[in-house]
Amino acid sequence: MVNTIIAIIVSYLLGSISFSILVARWLKKIDIRDHGSGNAGATNTLRVLGKGPAILVFLLDIAKGSAGVLIGSWLSDGSAAVEVACGLAAIAGHNWPIYFRFKGGKGIATTVGALVVWAFLPTLIAGVVAILVIAVTRYVSLGSMIFAVLLPILVFLFDKDTAFLWGALVVAVLAIVRHRKNITKLINGTENKLGSGKKGEP
Ligand code: G3P
Repeated sequence: MVNTIIAIIVSYLLGSISFSILVARWLKKIDIRDHGSGNAGATNTLRVLGKGPAILVFLLDIAKGSAGVLIGSWLSDGSAAVEVACGLAAIAGHNWPIYFRFKGGKGIATTVGALVVWAFLPTLIAGVVAILVIAVTRYVSLGSMIFAVLLPILVFLFDKDTAFLWGALVVAVLAIVRHRKNITKLINGTENKLGSGKKGEP
């Protein structure tokens, strides 16, 4: 039990390391949350800082999600429930980071990192669909939400452990809640398209 609590806390603290905030501070001495969409994530890093920093942030945000799940697995001898709790803790850390006044991102890259360990094939399939949606529509937010909603469906179809199904359901709900402003903008036709606007502008 103590191990489980430690694993969850460590995962949350790890998830709270907001790489987009750190990279933007380091490269431009700005708070990424005051620029572009205001989101502390890889998409907004792309918008504000460009491709290289965005790829770095995306990979690091994925890594912290995977690391959280692996720490949970290691400290619990592979318990699916603890892996799920640690993955969700890392995503919560990314969304509400303790080091940055609890104002973080939308958790998609960290979700990729966690889910790739919980359920590799469902994550791969949902990821390919999301990339296609983004390529066709140029809306990263739409691709992100479709990715998140597909996860529980695919985890169910691939018959994974019930703990992973519950975890994927929570992840999907979280992603929709975190994208509520994007949903409004998509409906109004004012959502940012990938590649629109110059670097440093929304
Ligand atoms: O993962 C975040 C992405 O779906 C949307 O980001 O900055 O366009 O709100 P943003």
